[in-house]
Amino acid sequence: MSNKVTLIATAAMGLESIVANEVKALGYEDLQVENGRVIFTADVSAIPRTNLWLRTADRVKLLVGRFKATSFDQLFEETKALPWEAFISEDGEFPVVGKSVKSKLYSVPDCQSIVKKAIVERLKKKYGIASWLKETGAFYRVEVAIHKDEAVLTIDTSGTGLHKRGYRIGQGEAPLKETLAAALVQVTNWKPDEPFVDPFCGSGTIAIEAALIGQNIAPGFNREFASENWGFIPQKVWDEAFREAEEHANYDQPLDITGSDLDPEMIKVAERNALEAGLGDLVTWKQMQVSDFKPKKENGYVVTNPPYGERLNEKPEVEKMYRDLGTIMRDDPSWSVYVLTSHEGFESLYGKKATKKRKLFNGFIKTDYYQYFGKKIRSTPTHNKGF
Ligand SMILES: C[S@@+](CC[C@H](N)C(=O)[O-])C[C@H]1O[C@@H](n2cnc3c(N)ncnc32)[C@H](O)[C@@H]1O
Repeated sequence: MSNKVTLIATAAMGLESIVANEVKALGYEDLQVENGRVIFTADVSAIPRTNLWLRTADRVKLLVGRFKATSFDQLFEETKALPWEAFISEDGEFPVVGKSVKSKLYSVPDCQSIVKKAIVERLKKKYGIASWLKETGAFYRVEVAIHKDEAVLTIDTSGTGLHKRGYRIGQGEAPLKETLAAALVQVTNWKPDEPFVDPFCGSGTIAIEAALIGQNIAPGFNREFASENWGFIPQKVWDEAFREAEEHANYDQPLDITGSDLDPEMIKVAERNALEAGLGDLVTWKQMQVSDFKPKKENGYVVTNPPYGERLNEKPEVEKMYRDLGTIMRDDPSWSVYVLTSHEGFESLYGKKATKKRKLFNGFIKTDYYQYFGKKIRSTPTHNKGF
């Protein structure tokens, strides 16, 4: 078997180009960027490396085959023709999940069982097994995804979604997915030694992701992946990827990151999450109203996910917060401000048209990411904490 694999890094709608940039930054080229996914071919070591390092992808899947399928026979034969034995071990456990959109083969349970049968037949022949496959070994979640009559067959390499970094032990009512929080930070030009503030920090996700980015800590360093037990990926390849992550972490990088929130309970939660993330007291947490926020330094960044005021009774209060933030930031034009909200009147409440807007989904909520670029003042940065 060649040691090249084709991988699909799946992405939430709107984040594809950010995921693609991350894949490129890991040294992989010739990417195909499609709706919801980035496809690339790489050495097998890309499986541990992408799982460990991708901050904004949902998961990494191994592409086994892609073909047109308009009949069950075709689905069966094409599936059976794929080299499953190159990936799934003799005793591997491989449940099949599926989805079908705008396709002739619309019955997902039927597609799943046909794919399962085809793989079983292929593996029994290749491994010379006459009876049942034991399925007591490593876990391979196979997916058959059919879209407009094209079947894409993959095996999930991640296991739990990549947003689960392992640090979130507590959360508030509306926590941001870690992958989206990382994306919000990555689209800014923030440098690790510049002030960074989230004045509506909740459980601290944005500030924690910024700290991980700032110190170049691999987001998957404290978790496990489904493919860690796969026989075709030598243990030394995993060891090397973890060693690389350890070597590239820059724990000496000074940071100036603050998270604040009105709710003292959320501050406790954020503090615990940061500790769990191994950040100790690198992030400053503070119980505070947004109206009391006052930048004391220059060239800082506010990156935040405030309440959206979707419940009618919250609206006036939320609109006041947006006005307050706009008034505060007007006095500090060197600061850049990034706000994710679904409130369509944000710009007029904040009092300024955004330099740039980007449509993003926060779960199922349609939001805009309002971006205000600061006018940088060139001076020597300071490393005092707080703002
Ligand atoms: C959408 S949540 C932020 C969630 C956060 N991004 C996370 O991942 O957990 C909004 C936060 O704003 C806080 N908040 C509400 N009103 C506030 C105010 N006037 N000043 C500061 N924080 C406020 C809430 O306590 C809540 O934690």
